[in-house]
Amino acid sequence: MAEKKKVRVPIIRMEQLEDAIYDMTIEEKEMAAAAKAGQFLSLYLDDESRLLPRPISICGIDKEAGTIRMVFRIAGEGTRQISCLKAGDSIEVLGPLGNGFFDTEDKVSMVIGGGIGIPPMLGLAKKLHAEGKKVIAVLGYRDAKNFLAKEFEEVAEVVIATEDGSVGVKGNVIDAIKAKGLTADTVYSCGPTPMLRGVKAFAESAGIACQISLEEKMACGIGACLACVCKSKDKDHHSNVNNKRICKDGPVFFAQEVEL
Ligand SMILES: Cc1cc2nc3c(=O)[nH]c(=O)nc-3n(C[C@H](O)[C@H](O)[C@H](O)COP(=O)(O)OP(=O)(O)OC[C@H]3O[C@@H](n4cnc5c(N)ncnc54)[C@H](O)[C@@H]3O)c2cc1C
Ligand code: FES
Repeated sequence: MAEKKKVRVPIIRMEQLEDAIYDMTIEEKEMAAAAKAGQFLSLYLDDESRLLPRPISICGIDKEAGTIRMVFRIAGEGTRQISCLKAGDSIEVLGPLGNGFFDTEDKVSMVIGGGIGIPPMLGLAKKLHAEGKKVIAVLGYRDAKNFLAKEFEEVAEVVIATEDGSVGVKGNVIDAIKAKGLTADTVYSCGPTPMLRGVKAFAESAGIACQISLEEKMACGIGACLACVCKSKDKDHHSNVNNKRICKDGPVFFAQEVEL
């Protein structure tokens, strides 16, 4: 496969969803044509003191319009600078990167997202719904600021968990799954590592297949620097140790493949 190159693309939409959360759409036909749910783009800043790209998951793909949507939270200076861009500006991006979620023959799929792990699950929920599958979305938030929840309702049965109990089940996504007695053929999840650990344990005990999307600090984003490894069950043929590169071998793994 030809090596991917950085390209400068137009931003066609930038909206603030709430507090520090932004919703950005870029236009690049070839990238949108190749993209799948669970992959990410590396975003480059025009700030020469910050050369490393910022990896952001794909939240939505419109193949007809040739656009890719990403939803991100301001975490530091890089994402703050990106949040200052507006429709009509441009940004350098590389992608789509990573593997994306694996196709299955499920009839019932459960997508589980926590915090800023929720956006990539929306693109996946839309895809699974379009394939005619029943989709259950379990979304974990801190409080009543439930960004993207309304959009999930268009394609899924939505169950919300909030840490402060202001909406839905009080507690985390596993509390919500147990409270509602939810099950599925496959669970797909993205969120903080403690949550993914809980999802993996739940899926194992319930005998449900489980795909998780991992996040780790990244540098190159293309598999060259080993900054992003996680511990894996099998040896990686690249480094011959029990490691997987999240940017290249992932970010999506079957839960039993990796140690959390
Ligand atoms: C595969 C993947 C998908 C992601 N998808 C999203 C998303 O959809 N929405 C979202 O809000 N965030 C997402 N993140 C996290 C996002 O990449 C970081 O919040 C962002 O890079 C922080 O950059 P910063 O300059 O604002 O913060 P700083 O802390 O100033 O960043 C300093 C350096 O560390 C790196 N870094 C810091 N935190 C992370 C992190 N969590 N992951 C990777 N690199 C990091 C930065 O890229 C930068 O090089 C994702 C991370 C990964 C690995
Ligand atoms: S970030 Fe360099 S190998 Fe993954």
